[in-house]
Amino acid sequence: MDYLLATKNSKKRDELQRILSPLGIRVILDNEAGLVLGDVEETGVTFEENALIKAQSACLQSGLPCIADDSGLCVDALNGAPGVYSARYAGEHGNDEENNKKLLSELKTLFYEDRTARFVCAACCVYPDGKVLTARGECEGHIGFSPAGNGGFGYDPVFIPETYDKPEERLTMAQLDGGIKDALSHRGKALRALAQKIGGKK
Ligand code: IMP
Repeated sequence: MDYLLATKNSKKRDELQRILSPLGIRVILDNEAGLVLGDVEETGVTFEENALIKAQSACLQSGLPCIADDSGLCVDALNGAPGVYSARYAGEHGNDEENNKKLLSELKTLFYEDRTARFVCAACCVYPDGKVLTARGECEGHIGFSPAGNGGFGYDPVFIPETYDKPEERLTMAQLDGGIKDALSHRGKALRALAQKIGGKK
């Protein structure tokens, strides 16, 4: 069975494909299915609600089983912000550079130990018969003092994951190889859990 990926973010799409394909989940993009997915308003107040909204909308439009992810960054010193508003934190949707600039400015008075944060990802699969599967993944870390690295997307250049095995180097997610990011990322964890529920390779 093919699963349609319900996302227009090309960087995110690459990660979803990279993580799901080796797990035995065959994914296709809307253009490969001869479709153009319409925009959907993310009106939910949780990652889970937004992932469901995106997957349900794509499933209704395509008649195919659809997988969506909703994700973002939660910063403790900002009481969990930007959270579900991560993509539009600095106003314009998806302006990564401005989002990072705003975040670093908000945290500028804080020491490293007070800059704790986590990436969160809710992954959702909706089937045409209405069946819904969901899974969540989180990745703990700190916000650095300046952007570093060219990999990944979004807040990766300012996020220093805790679980990377060389903590003294304080490498950002954007400085890690894509495969290493997938092994420790919120998205990797959520999708591996979702794939188990779907019944892909263990
Ligand atoms: P969404 O497309 O509504 O899920 O928005 C996700 C937003 O959260 C992105 O635009 C990024 O700003 C941020 N984000 C989510 N996942 C990641 C990631 O893996 N790395 C960096 N930023 C991320």
